[in-house]
Amino acid sequence: MARESRRGFLRKAAATGIALSADCAFGGLARARQAASPSSSPYKFYLDTRRTLPTLDRNIFGSFLEHLGRAIYEGIYDPNSKLADANGFRSDVLQEIRKLKVPIVRYPGGNFVSGYHWLDGVGPKADRSAVLDKAWNTIDTNQFGTNEFLAWCKAVGAEPLFAVNLGTGTPESAAALVEYCNVEKGTKWSDLRRKHGVAEPHNVKRWCLGNEMDGPWQIGHMSASEYGEKAADAARQMRYVDDSLQLVACGSSGPFMPTYLQWDREVLEQCFDYVDAVSLHRYFGNGKETDGDSSRFLALNLSMDKQIAEVASVCDYVQGRKKSSKRLWLSFDEWNVWYRANSGSAVNGNRQIAPHLLEEVYNLEDALLVGGLINSLVRNSNRVRVACLAQLINVIAPIMTNGNGLYRQTIYYPYSWALDYAHGAALEVLREPGATYEVPELGQVPYVDVAGTFDSAGGTVSLFLLNRDLNKSRQVEWNWESGGSSRLLAGWVLTGKDLKAVNGFDKPDRVEPQAAERPVNSGTTTRVELPPRSYSVYQWAM
Ligand code: AHR
Repeated sequence: MARESRRGFLRKAAATGIALSADCAFGGLARARQAASPSSSPYKFYLDTRRTLPTLDRNIFGSFLEHLGRAIYEGIYDPNSKLADANGFRSDVLQEIRKLKVPIVRYPGGNFVSGYHWLDGVGPKADRSAVLDKAWNTIDTNQFGTNEFLAWCKAVGAEPLFAVNLGTGTPESAAALVEYCNVEKGTKWSDLRRKHGVAEPHNVKRWCLGNEMDGPWQIGHMSASEYGEKAADAARQMRYVDDSLQLVACGSSGPFMPTYLQWDREVLEQCFDYVDAVSLHRYFGNGKETDGDSSRFLALNLSMDKQIAEVASVCDYVQGRKKSSKRLWLSFDEWNVWYRANSGSAVNGNRQIAPHLLEEVYNLEDALLVGGLINSLVRNSNRVRVACLAQLINVIAPIMTNGNGLYRQTIYYPYSWALDYAHGAALEVLREPGATYEVPELGQVPYVDVAGTFDSAGGTVSLFLLNRDLNKSRQVEWNWESGGSSRLLAGWVLTGKDLKAVNGFDKPDRVEPQAAERPVNSGTTTRVELPPRSYSVYQWAM
């Protein structure tokens, strides 16, 4: 079945030596460094608040909810729960997401969307039929659909990122959904929405043109040029309805694909003129990919930097060939760690409603890599404008629910720090070569990974620091080139003795942030020691 063949496909890719990750894409200074220096000499960084990328789009800290497992049903919507509000939304989850301030949420899939008929999920609930979702072999009651999702987004303060079905769906049905959502009144589909009790248009601005259409596991999978043409047609029809849309074409499902980059080029050759962005997806594992070696695993965010650079260069190549002035942006609309709950009963719903699928349990080292991946997104924020941690609730998720409440998985913390502290623009952090270690396919990897932001409006600087060294603390020292910092506002660290430690309903605080060591200032220099196996955030008022 579709969900199984993706796994089979991944296995085949690994066996045939298709690259699962690639060379180190870190800055030139680090690349030039061949030999390790002693752990006692500090990493040296240079920060200048005048040296930044353009203001980052907060949508790079978005997330994703798919009709999959217990993400929607039991996760965010559970009318029979004692915790449900009047709309059937889980009020504890609503509160948690509101507090997090997730800016954008992709919906309704994922693989699910490629067989989804949006009309099944609108109108009086009593008239909606349960259907078999073939992507995950699950029964979907359709009690939650377009209007419920958009009401939920409003309730949590998030923008929707809607995916349309370009698997079994047609460009016409995609344009009809835009009409249903965005036209005020006086047309067939807008009047249907009004009949369904929603007078005001939703004005959904960002749309994904299908999902992972390069994958043989995808319902409606097709060749790059077929998809490129279909995406162009869908984009044209959708824009005839609303010309203010921002549209994302499906790029490769990841570097493991044999058609990686070639797919992106062929697709864009067909639809470049009609779209604004291309998608990237990536899931990282610590099994076969790394031989279970945590040092290798913690370096994998560098292959996210590389993937971004590669896909961006394909966009630029097609732009050049077309002699266009339009520069596409990137939508990294699925990323996370995911390698345990990805086969057998973890991906097969056995025709149940809301089965337990993809319920990955995250440990400390997963959270450290998620921190590194956030660093990669921040330093590529001149090109990536949307990115979605896949996913948000119960399914490969930072938040897990049961009938009585919720708990935060380890990966919740680096994600929430990005949302709390990464404001303004990414700092272009200069660094001197520091100690490195060798990682197959990535080359020399620095033990310390850094990203930073400067918020001129709020007058704050934040630094995000990953220490990949499993055994030693590492000193870092940075020079404030545009003047010294004034006041430390926050300092948190996620670390622990056991990289495999997890949270759960039994012990929700096994892995939790601790107050970080206070940095020491001397003139325009600040120094701090990062504990081994750690991810830290510091924020200063400037
Ligand atoms: O996020 C889980 C699944 O991973 C999505 O449905 C699909 O797009 C990807 O393969």
